[in-house]
Amino acid sequence: MNLYDRYLLPTLIDLLCGIKPVQRQRAKLVPRAQGRVLEIGIGTGRNLPFYDKTRLSELYGLDPALQMHPKALERMHEAGIEVEMLDLPAEKIPMPDASFDTVVTTFTLCTIPDAVAALREMRRVLKPGGRLLFCEHGKAPDASVHQWQNRLTPLWKPLAGGCHLNRDIPALLREGGFHIEDMEQLYLPGPRPLTYNYWGSATAA
Ligand SMILES: C[S@@+](CC[C@H](N)C(=O)[O-])C[C@H]1O[C@@H](n2cnc3c(N)ncnc32)[C@H](O)[C@@H]1O
Repeated sequence: MNLYDRYLLPTLIDLLCGIKPVQRQRAKLVPRAQGRVLEIGIGTGRNLPFYDKTRLSELYGLDPALQMHPKALERMHEAGIEVEMLDLPAEKIPMPDASFDTVVTTFTLCTIPDAVAALREMRRVLKPGGRLLFCEHGKAPDASVHQWQNRLTPLWKPLAGGCHLNRDIPALLREGGFHIEDMEQLYLPGPRPLTYNYWGSATAA
């Protein structure tokens, strides 16, 4: 791994993931997590302050990027939440079938190399009636913005840890075996190719 990816990128991602409009989205979604929870791509632990501790029985955080873990552990102590960290990719979740009440993914489906395989794994580990809570940026509805997303993604991806600007989040969720229960979408403040946001919940189709 090069020096940029090891040292600078975690700080940049943490800063971008901590801007106000993004924090507001976390506040709408993350408190809905309940029971035994798996967070996919936990990163630097930006969601940790937003969990409703009274609704959690256990929290697992999965992320293959070890360089993100120290900050996540710091936030775990600040939030007073125990997190079982798994330094593995979501395409192969090392957990039994039907073992979680909630799976959380925020700003991660853009980056996971095989997002459909990862979603199928999330579906597998959810209990019957369990929920996927998602908040993701992706394909904008305006053709001109989407064209810019397609043009910029090859340049953006190496700078942003593999992030794609143009992924069709609802289509990925469906291909991954989910039925979208509720979903809202809008441009967050900021450059339009980077900010089209989808959030809501999904259950196994
Ligand atoms: C933009 S960051 C978002 C971090 C965090 N979810 C948040 O909301 O702040 C994307 C995260 O996806 C993680 N990631 C990359 N590939 C992954 C994979 N195959 N499985 C799970 N997470 C992955 C990265 O390590 C990174 O922490």
